[in-house]
Amino acid sequence: MSLLELDDVKVHFPVRKGVLFNRTVGHVYAVDGVSLKVEAGQTYGLVGESGCGKTTLGRGVLRLVDITDGEVVFDGTDLAKLPEEEMRRYRRRLQMVFQDPLGSLNPRQNIESILSEGMAAHGIGKDQDERRERIKEILAKVGLPTNALSRYPHEFSGGQRQRIGIARALVLEPDVIICDEPVSALDVSVQAQVINLLEELQESMGLTYLVIAHDLAVVRHISDVIGVMYLGSLVEEAPSDALYAGPKHPYTKALMSAVPVPDPEVEDRRERILLQGDLPSPANPPAGCRFHTRCPWAQDRCAAERPVLTDVGDGHKVACHFAAEIEAGTLELTRPTGIEAVTETKAVAAEGPDAEKVAIPAQSSGDEPAEKKAETQEQEQDSAEAEEPAKADAPAKAEADAPVKAEAPAKADDDDVEADAPAEADAPAKTDDVPPADDAGAGKADADDADDADDADDADDADAPESDASGAESAKTG
Ligand SMILES: Nc1ncnc2c1ncn2[C@@H]1O[C@H](COP(=O)(O)OP(=O)(O)OP(=O)(O)O)[C@@H](O)[C@H]1O
Ligand code: SF4
Ligand SMILES: [Mg+2]
Repeated sequence: MSLLELDDVKVHFPVRKGVLFNRTVGHVYAVDGVSLKVEAGQTYGLVGESGCGKTTLGRGVLRLVDITDGEVVFDGTDLAKLPEEEMRRYRRRLQMVFQDPLGSLNPRQNIESILSEGMAAHGIGKDQDERRERIKEILAKVGLPTNALSRYPHEFSGGQRQRIGIARALVLEPDVIICDEPVSALDVSVQAQVINLLEELQESMGLTYLVIAHDLAVVRHISDVIGVMYLGSLVEEAPSDALYAGPKHPYTKALMSAVPVPDPEVEDRRERILLQGDLPSPANPPAGCRFHTRCPWAQDRCAAERPVLTDVGDGHKVACHFAAEIEAGTLELTRPTGIEAVTETKAVAAEGPDAEKVAIPAQSSGDEPAEKKAETQEQEQDSAEAEEPAKADAPAKAEADAPVKAEAPAKADDDDVEADAPAEADAPAKTDDVPPADDAGAGKADADDADDADDADDADDADAPESDASGAESAKTG
């Protein structure tokens, strides 16, 4: 049995209208029947465009959102059916690293406080001295100096903050880490460093990863198996090499054709499939194959019948009625494909010390000049030592700088809710579960854990007068 098995997992968010009656007028089918297996010690890469349900699936696994249907079997236990009390025990073993490294760290807490509170809540370390020693070991593992302990999140660069996020997961000695877009907020050269770090940690600590990304280039090197998600479900899944060597689903072909190739000659000959239209709304998904409104090969059958993810050999699974015909080149195109040859080489492989290990093609931040990249990278390495230790006014400053307040979870069930409204889209779900202020960063600490959390260390409390909503999301995973 695999360490983590998802069977037909669905997460549907109710769309409510009206102040008085608060009627349910529909659902957002954010995740709509996902089955996958993650083997112990391996990495499953989950890719798909923005809004296809990747984060919701990750949160569903950790029960940060309610699972509408399906099973999430972790180490033989179906988490979907566990009472909340028992689920808490499993949360230590399943951790999440969030997309926004700054937003997920409480700006009022120093790093020691951030890292130790989850440990205390789960009874790791007999006292703060023991926890501090363990934290120092983990900081060294993720490449941060021990003087980071007394500093605040805003004093670190983006890459360093992501390392802190990884350290926060590691101190709890998890089995599985769900990395939600772990590098998308980072500069390209730093992306490679963080991906390499994740790989090294996996090797040395035997970790299992579910890595979520919207970009195939990011998950390519780190993943053993890749699943491609479109509008709430998987359309293709295959061992990483097989997927890159021969994508079979039209959507994967389109995604893949957008990934620049570092070889200029190949890049010049490369064909790009430009998809027409936007991702349809998950509140009103198309019938039949959900991709039929954009698929260049869509046939009548596609609008009527939903294809099932089927193994076409060697563990390569695809959900397309016509995958074989498309591969053989015998299926007529039914709409302008937008297929065009790329005539100019636009991609540059990431440069830098780690580039020979993982070269992630330049993307959003790739237009930064090369010298600037090198400088950023160097700064990332050095700034921890170079800067002064935490200043007395740090918490206040952090509060001013950090976008935490802005991200305070909106109440998902509030009044009139539009299915497509961006505010709704970004609102962390299950906000009713946001812990109260003093519980916020405490890894969803049980009330009785609170005592052991902090006898010895009230120095921390001085650094962290109070938690706030920023820690809410991380809290549940701790
Ligand atoms: N709490 C919620 N209530 C209602 N709809 C939600 C909620 N959370 C997410 N959604 C919707 O579910 C869909 C999937 O969102 P999700 O954040 O999982 O996408 P994603 O693939 O992670 O996108 P991105 O790459 O932009 O992070 C979106 O349409 C979003 O608007
Ligand atoms: S089932 Fe039809 S619409 Fe869907 S991907 Fe295959 S050819 Fe395209
Ligand atoms: Mg997301």
